Amino acid sequence: MSQEHEETNHGLIKTPMQTLVAAGLGFAAPVFIIMGLVSFYSSGTKTGVGAIPTPQALEQRIQKVGESEVGDPAKIAAAAAATPVAAAAAPAAAPAADAGKKIYDTTCVACHGTGVANAPKFGDKEAWAPRLAAGFDEVLKIATQGKGGMPPKGGSSASDADFKAAVEYLVNSAK
Ligand code: HEC
Repeated sequence: MSQEHEETNHGLIKTPMQTLVAAGLGFAAPVFIIMGLVSFYSSGTKTGVGAIPTPQALEQRIQKVGESEVGDPAKIAAAAAATPVAAAAAPAAAPAADAGKKIYDTTCVACHGTGVANAPKFGDKEAWAPRLAAGFDEVLKIATQGKGGMPPKGGSSASDADFKAAVEYLVNSAK
């Protein structure tokens, strides 16, 4: 009875469905292998009811999983290759903007986050519009040299390029 049942299962597994099932279970294959081995060995030590048909069935199941695993690496490799590429593309996209945000977050936010000493606030369009009317270069120049409560370069020791990125980051918040 149970052997007939197993054979019916084999027929089903070998249908084209197996491709889908194998793809879905590809990552679970090691688990099934381990489960299969554990069951195989534990049922081997047990000589009780059902012990005789089970090792054969499990052996075949182990082979099946092994087969599907052999078929899968190409798909798995393709999937694995696609993921890191997508993840790696993002950080490489905007290094300058990152530097600007970093400087802003560590230095400029102290005044421009809350508007200390009438500093134009981050994202405050009304405060920035009249300054930007003079053009970005002028804003950058004033910020670099300092003015009133604004220390030269905002008191930072950033490079010119990084400071410019910080100004851009700050100014773009209010556009
Ligand atoms: C100690 C407080 C303080 C810090 C820190 C500070 N600022 Fe300012 N910032 C000011 C104040 C106050 C003003 C307004 C000056 C004025 O118009 O009298 C200002 C103005 C500016 C302006 C406008 C310049 C213009 O066109 O009028 C820019 C741009 C600017 N800051 C950028 C930065 C950047 C970038 C940083 C960080 C690297 C920074 N600030 C850090 C206080 C600060």
